[in-house]
Amino acid sequence: MKQERIVMGVCYYPEHWDKSLWYDDLRRMSQAGIQVIRIAEFAWNKFEVKEGVYNFDFFDEFMDLVETTDMKVIFCTPTATPPAWLTEKYPEVLCVDYDGSQHKHGMRRQYNYNSPVYIEKTRQIVEAVVRHYGQRKSIIGWQIDNELNCVTDEFYAQADHIAFREFLKEKYMTLDKVNEAWGTVFWNQTYMDWEEIFLPRHTPRKTANPHLKLDSVRFFSESANRYCKLQADIIKRYIQPDVFITTNGIFKHIDYKKMMTESLDVLSYDSYPTFGIMDQQNPLGDRKWSMNLAKVRSSSQPFAIMEQQAGPGGWVNHHKAPSPKPGQLRLWTFQSIAHGADMVSYFRWRTCAFGTEIYWYGILGHDNQDNRRLEEVTRTAQDVKKIQQVAGGEYQADLAILYDYDNDWDAEYDVWCAPMHQRSQMGWFQALQETHTPFDYLAVDKETTLEELKKYTYLVLPHMVIMKDEIRILIDEYVKQGGTVIAGARTAYKDVYGQCPMKPEPVSMNHIFGVEVEDFTLLKPDQSIQYAKWGEDKIEVNDFHSILKPISKDCQVKATYVGDYYDGKPAITYHTYGQGQAIYVGSSFGAQTAAYILRDLNIAEPYKKQLELPTCCELAIRSCGNVSYLFILNYSGEQQKIQLNGNYQDLLTDKQLEKEVNLEGYGVLVLQVNESIH
Ligand code: GAL
Repeated sequence: MKQERIVMGVCYYPEHWDKSLWYDDLRRMSQAGIQVIRIAEFAWNKFEVKEGVYNFDFFDEFMDLVETTDMKVIFCTPTATPPAWLTEKYPEVLCVDYDGSQHKHGMRRQYNYNSPVYIEKTRQIVEAVVRHYGQRKSIIGWQIDNELNCVTDEFYAQADHIAFREFLKEKYMTLDKVNEAWGTVFWNQTYMDWEEIFLPRHTPRKTANPHLKLDSVRFFSESANRYCKLQADIIKRYIQPDVFITTNGIFKHIDYKKMMTESLDVLSYDSYPTFGIMDQQNPLGDRKWSMNLAKVRSSSQPFAIMEQQAGPGGWVNHHKAPSPKPGQLRLWTFQSIAHGADMVSYFRWRTCAFGTEIYWYGILGHDNQDNRRLEEVTRTAQDVKKIQQVAGGEYQADLAILYDYDNDWDAEYDVWCAPMHQRSQMGWFQALQETHTPFDYLAVDKETTLEELKKYTYLVLPHMVIMKDEIRILIDEYVKQGGTVIAGARTAYKDVYGQCPMKPEPVSMNHIFGVEVEDFTLLKPDQSIQYAKWGEDKIEVNDFHSILKPISKDCQVKATYVGDYYDGKPAITYHTYGQGQAIYVGSSFGAQTAAYILRDLNIAEPYKKQLELPTCCELAIRSCGNVSYLFILNYSGEQQKIQLNGNYQDLLTDKQLEKEVNLEGYGVLVLQVNESIH
């Protein structure tokens, strides 16, 4: 993770195997090109068998053996799985769900972040483990816990309610301010005492005050972040500065940008692309994982893959996913690297013979025989060696999709916005993928600078419903100075508390977009695809129709609604503002609409001078200084024709390629171009 080379790894559980297998496992791993193993994330009992009784013999023996080899280690803190002795003695550490049921021992992640006992027990075990292993030379990094907020991302234990009140006191200072921010005069929800405030609890139809709901998710994120920082601060005290700290994500209700700033050196992601294939609603299958990888990259460039799917996946009682087809393991590894991963570690070395994950296959099966997956991992590791120079390379994109956590969280509860949000995320992703237009996500918050926005010529804000003053100011300046923004329905409809200001929509941005929303309607479900006329063409405008009224002479109506009482009224407008342009779309963005706008603005296929690709292939570019690496990833099982306009060196075959190239099913090309083509 020093941006000097791309590291290959695997997750290993010495506690799952007879010791007699250890050495042979390490030997076979290294033969396959594996350089690092991740260990110990669920092994609390191996360090502290009884409260306060520590014993490091087991992992000492394993680490001593590891250190007779060249294998490196990512060591984990074991807090994802508290021991039975702990939760039986201190049940207050257990997590409680929305309906008040307490999670019990027997699964994982059954603790809550705010229990003073769990915080203390965490401090003790993390300190004991890191103090003991912190100086081991083979350890290159530390993983905090495992998948914070996986399994459950909402917490309602007594300790959480109490901590929530403290969070609110710090944020609002007075009860009056809380009452005002949450509009508690509505339905007589006014609080007269801090003790009357709770995180959302059981109510008819699970209906909570929406402003309280938003603050509760902010609090869940803050709790996870504080818990992560608690561990990071301890780890830092015992390790060398060149050893990294990470945790593996990404899950709901965590602000990872903040986590990166406060606690981590690098963010890791657990990538299981067959979930994309299993999702019937997702037209892009495993390719959709590129969207997740782009999200990870927005918090950490480069990032690491801590768990890369290596086999068919499933628990005994849920999830069933097919085996990666021959070629897909390699393809998914390159997908991760193309998007910015400088480490790829497979999950897991050998499939466990017992427990919930007996069907979650690793590289090896239960029979421990060499198999086609091991052969493919070996081949992939050899290929990755050929592209070491890509390490540290920056992903190239001229368009960014803006997001912020408040809007993600607000949209979860807001049934008016959630469908638009989802359709537009997928719509933009699909359009950008299919037109081979690389993009970044850009997480914005109060630290974001104008320079960060100006890295991109185009910014898309699909539905930034909550608009914070500082972001509004940045966007204003960005457009004035020549940038183009593209925004969808309900932009700037709410303030930072989730309340609706008494001003025309898009609130305080009318001068930027040159429009006001004069009327709107939500489409009925059976009407979910409607059309707008754009010249002679028809484009889809879904979910929601904001009927626009131009208020500036520089505002041009590009498309008008077809049908219903607002037939002929403006649906899409382009406004020239300062040196730039602000585009308002009064609906959500399906893939067709997004692609239409990309073509209209001449952003689609930005690299067609260099090469032409079929739709089923992805193009991703990483650059180091003036050298660019073009990754071409074929997600189809069929051979595809790639048209190269020029001469390129393929790093994987070391051949010079030109004109027409046949790329095999699930195949990958990595072309080096000795100039910046951005
Ligand atoms: C991940 C988790 C692993 C393993 C894997 C397969 O989410 O970190 O421990 O459970 O999924 O289920």
